[in-house]
Amino acid sequence: MNSKYNAALGAYEKIKSLEIDDLRIGIGTGSTSDIFTSSFLKELSSSIEKIYSSSDRTTDHIKRIGLTAEDAIPKDKSIDVYIDGADEVDKDLNLIKGGGGAHTREKMLADASKYFICIVDETKMVQQLGNFGIPVEIMSFGFENTINKLKTFGSKIEVRNQKSETGNVIIDLKGVIIEEPDKLESEIKKVTGVIEVGIFAKNKPNLLIVGNDKTYKPIDSSIA
Ligand code: A5P
Repeated sequence: MNSKYNAALGAYEKIKSLEIDDLRIGIGTGSTSDIFTSSFLKELSSSIEKIYSSSDRTTDHIKRIGLTAEDAIPKDKSIDVYIDGADEVDKDLNLIKGGGGAHTREKMLADASKYFICIVDETKMVQQLGNFGIPVEIMSFGFENTINKLKTFGSKIEVRNQKSETGNVIIDLKGVIIEEPDKLESEIKKVTGVIEVGIFAKNKPNLLIVGNDKTYKPIDSSIA
């Protein structure tokens, strides 16, 4: 718990240091993002112009602390900072996301942001991505057909009982150790019927904050 809190604290201290007036901030989904929201978002509220939310769960949480979230994204790249967790992170700051089924909206927010801060506890750091599985959101229409095509990437596919945040089918590709995240992201995305894949190689964070029991370690993408 402390390690997630410390990661969120690192993001808060970074945002404060940026001294942005009229801050447009995006908030991801998951327990680490939730800690950022409960512990630090209100502290920033006097300098916030807009909050963009990646899921209904996050929107509800933001409302519960007395703030208002937009369930939309701006037309241009005008979110100043996007804060989100991850399920796995490699040494080059490629991510696996989607454990909470919200990776499509999360990727859209990351893509609409000037600066992405990923906050994780140290257990999320891996040598190579893949053990967690690769979440893939697919269209409900013809989903069995799409799953068959996805078997070219790995034969073990688990279909989740719950729909994705955006109401579509979500599957996990298991047993694929990812050698080239950027390439695999593009290849999976090309399959007809796929909406979004939970590999974030094209929308990597600018800054990773890794929390541990005592403190946090910031890793800038330019030196990763
Ligand atoms: C949500 O869909 C995911 O991308 C989350 O960001 C991810 O599951 C991280 O969650 P925790 O912060 O709970 O580990």
